[in-house]
Amino acid sequence: MHINYSDKELLVLKKISKAAQELNVPVFLIGGFVRDKVIGRATKDADIVCLGDGIVLANKVAEKFHPKPYVAFFKNFGTAQIKLDEFEIEFVGARKESYNYESRNPLVEAGSLEDDQNRRDFTINALAVSLNEKDYGELIDPFNGLHDIEQKIIQTPLDPLQTFSDDPLRMMRAIRFAAQLNFSIEAKTFQAIIDNAERIKIVSQERISDELNKIMLSSKPSVGLDLLSSSGLMQIVFPQMMALHGAEYVDGLGHKDNFYHTLQVIDNICIHTNDLWLRWAALLHDIGKPATKRFEEGHGWTFHGHEVVGARMVPKIFGKLKLPMNEKMKFVQKLVELHLRPISLTKENITDSAVRRLLFDAGEDIDALMMLCEADITSKNKQKVKRYLQNFELVRERMKEVEEKDHLRNWQPPITGEMIMQTFGLAPSKNVGIIKDSIREAILDGIIPNSYEAAHQFMLQKAAELNLLPV
Ligand code: CTP
Repeated sequence: MHINYSDKELLVLKKISKAAQELNVPVFLIGGFVRDKVIGRATKDADIVCLGDGIVLANKVAEKFHPKPYVAFFKNFGTAQIKLDEFEIEFVGARKESYNYESRNPLVEAGSLEDDQNRRDFTINALAVSLNEKDYGELIDPFNGLHDIEQKIIQTPLDPLQTFSDDPLRMMRAIRFAAQLNFSIEAKTFQAIIDNAERIKIVSQERISDELNKIMLSSKPSVGLDLLSSSGLMQIVFPQMMALHGAEYVDGLGHKDNFYHTLQVIDNICIHTNDLWLRWAALLHDIGKPATKRFEEGHGWTFHGHEVVGARMVPKIFGKLKLPMNEKMKFVQKLVELHLRPISLTKENITDSAVRRLLFDAGEDIDALMMLCEADITSKNKQKVKRYLQNFELVRERMKEVEEKDHLRNWQPPITGEMIMQTFGLAPSKNVGIIKDSIREAILDGIIPNSYEAAHQFMLQKAAELNLLPV
């Protein structure tokens, strides 16, 4: 097996080999780095395993570089790290691990290379490359990982029950790798995920959400999301998503399956953006539909207000999943809430005022919102898709016109609350809010132009109605 290393990697591997030889400990490159090299994917960090003390080896390796890199080490885990520019290398002694059934704290003891390969999650992640003089560069592949890479298969090296029981997060990792690499999960391994899905509950939410985000960042997240659903894991880690499943029929009238519609919307948006949070907005855009679903006689299925209900669910979902409760969450929430607005602008006879209001409400996120709306078109009818896209193009043009005229993007009304208080000698009070809101509304409705003079004049007029005089 020929592996293509960069010049820099070759140099580093030679130094590791030399250092290990001087210490008389056998040493191997192992895990994800080897997998990605074999596949031909970009690699990041490298894991080195030795039959000895990983921290001692890391220090010996560091001595071979000038200037000597810092060696970070964790005595409890027996691991050490060296960072050479962007290349991070982790050293550890080969080990045999067994896990306590109820917790994630492993009992660790020194082991052979074979023990170390046995305890790994998947055959494709258990490949090792010798860095020892006698067989330098040779692939050590006891579980036929190379074959599984060729066949695009994910399976555990041991009985999957054992591997998943050692660390139930591996069930999510299997699905994440399937999504990232476009591999399929071998039947026995997948069945073990179905049978053991409940065990994911002992894993920390942060680790679960890390995997969820990696699935969301893959090029076609629907693959991973569908597997999460069919394995039973989604019901446990993200039940709100499962509620989107199914199409109900009454009197022969049905609605689309919102789960698969949502998956399609995500895949659509992923063609255009790598932004994790915009992808999350696509995932959650219809999350309020199950709660708002009604059947109206003579009309069919409706989901009135699902965008408002959905927006309200966003903080709860982010909180539960331990996703950031900051401006990223607010961005997702805003997009969910606004996702129907551009559609309403595709109707005829839309006023400038309606366009202005959307520009104001979406602010700097207007492009992201338009991208979401275009991804939301999932009709199989090509003519329809074409017509919807043309309509959105018209909305974009209309927004551009209004924007050029009124400069409303990232707009702040020209009169601030501070100015109102100073002009009329007011303390912060209800009247300040009333005047401020009325100026904003007048501009958005096109009653007055978006200028300081007009807004100032309007303020005086509104204040007079409230019996307020300038001081
Ligand atoms: N590993 C494992 N079980 C886990 C996590 C990791 O067996 N729950 C092993 C695998 O052999 C894996 C290696 O540790 O290849 C390194 O783990 P990690 O860095 O998390 O994953 P990578 O496989 O390197 O993939 P990525 O960097 O894409 O996460």
